Amino acid sequence: MSAVDFHGYDASAGYTYGFCPEMAPDWLDLSAMLAGAAPARRDGQAPFRYLELGCGQGMGLCLLAAANPQGQFVGVDFLPDHVAHARAVARAAGLTNIQFSDGDFVALAQQWPVDFGRFDYVSLHGVYSWITPPVRTALVRCLGQATASGGLVYIGYNAQPGWLGSMPFRHISRLLKEESNQPSEAVMQASIGLFDRLAAGGANSFRILPGLKSRLAAVKRQASNYLIHEYLHAGWHPLWHSEVAKEVAGEGLTFVGTASLAETLLPGALPPLLRATVEEQVSSVLRIDVQDLVINQSFRRDVFRPSSLWPTPAGDVVLEGKKIYLLKPVEGDSLTIATSFSEIILQAPAYAEIVSALDAGGRSIGELLALPAMRKQGRSNALQIMALLLHARIVGVGRSAPAPIRAVQGLNRFIAEEASRGRRYDHLAAASLGSAVVATADDLRLLDAWLAAKGRIDAKSLAATCADKPMGDQGAPADGQTAITPDRAAAFLNQTLPRWRKLGAVAQGQA
Ligand SMILES: C[S@@+](CC[C@H](N)C(=O)[O-])C[C@H]1O[C@@H](n2cnc3c(N)ncnc32)[C@H](O)[C@@H]1O
Repeated sequence: MSAVDFHGYDASAGYTYGFCPEMAPDWLDLSAMLAGAAPARRDGQAPFRYLELGCGQGMGLCLLAAANPQGQFVGVDFLPDHVAHARAVARAAGLTNIQFSDGDFVALAQQWPVDFGRFDYVSLHGVYSWITPPVRTALVRCLGQATASGGLVYIGYNAQPGWLGSMPFRHISRLLKEESNQPSEAVMQASIGLFDRLAAGGANSFRILPGLKSRLAAVKRQASNYLIHEYLHAGWHPLWHSEVAKEVAGEGLTFVGTASLAETLLPGALPPLLRATVEEQVSSVLRIDVQDLVINQSFRRDVFRPSSLWPTPAGDVVLEGKKIYLLKPVEGDSLTIATSFSEIILQAPAYAEIVSALDAGGRSIGELLALPAMRKQGRSNALQIMALLLHARIVGVGRSAPAPIRAVQGLNRFIAEEASRGRRYDHLAAASLGSAVVATADDLRLLDAWLAAKGRIDAKSLAATCADKPMGDQGAPADGQTAITPDRAAAFLNQTLPRWRKLGAVAQGQA
């Protein structure tokens, strides 16, 4: 075992700063309701407690805490650098409803801290299928200790069979690490080089496993710290849904539904023979594993909850009260949405009415269902269209009333400043959504310059200010940073900023 492995987890590099909208409380509540179950909160404004286990750099949790000041957030991770980063962000942003703990699942399972108590939402993303079986057992015990009755548990994990083609790459990468004694970054490069040679030489595995070639191509585009966390842990092991469901059942958790909302169209959206084959299976776990075979599933976002106190279904009132917001403009007469099972083409009448209604601001699901084209679709189809738009990040599900924006302003200012210096942050907190919105490296630089000028700056001067300021990474452009033209700055002022204002990422009168 390498000196930087803890419980088989490679701790040689810090992880990325990603955000996953499926982990937001409102999204999780919607996922439960679309599956016919109750949300963790019937009143979207009610206070709640949220725990993230294996929170990594803590960026996702800080974004959620800023956008949901009525929630109390706790993040746990055993890597000191991750926790230090998370605490530094929370402190710099002035967040008061979040705390981070440098805990290890194994120790926590033995003695759950009394002051942690129980949580309405418990989430783990990119953790469950990366740790060794004993650590997973401990983690499941933590879930049992942590989850409030009626609470929701989100588990995002690498799933089978979509990773079968990647098994050889993973196996050799890990073996190279164990046998060569090289630093993890060098191991990843050596592994890529080795597979390039195998491909060039016509190794049989590439012929038999077409997924190997596409995985190798994907690996070459990915950052080395991501690759280390993806491939080099001793416990890396993509799982079937049935395996996860059986493991968490040991702590009394049962499956509610998926937070991958496009998959709520399944199995109905499959061709007749495949749909029938899925539907005729004798149990839920068999149906889901067979369905995952059909679609070649590679990542699942499962929602569970304690089964002992299964709450009654939410009823349509709570579902219809949930509010939907437009995240980005949509043009043209059709929309092609890539899902885990196929590309779905929506024609304009099916979605354009929703998009134009949302252009003026957020609308409840009930209001959207009442639109003429949606009534024509029927309730079930209309909900499926919304699920697809949510999946494609064209709309977001959010709060019924915007949160106070003070915490969001503090965090977003910090994010813009740091991103300008080259830190690869890529989201802003949004008070209307209770979640976060994607922001490109250039938009974050523009926001930083605009905030520094207190919003009193035209496009030409904004572009000039960005040009004067050295870009990130010691003056060299960081990933995604480009030279800002006056046209680009004008698009930021006239399109991006107004959209961010509507979503509560920037206050109305700010800067
Ligand atoms: C792949 S990262 C995902 C991080 C974060 N959830 C995200 O999606 O950005 C997995 C995280 O789990 C943490 N982790 C792994 N084993 C752990 C353990 N035994 N106790 C606590 N944290 C652990 C790692 O430190 C790492 O931050």
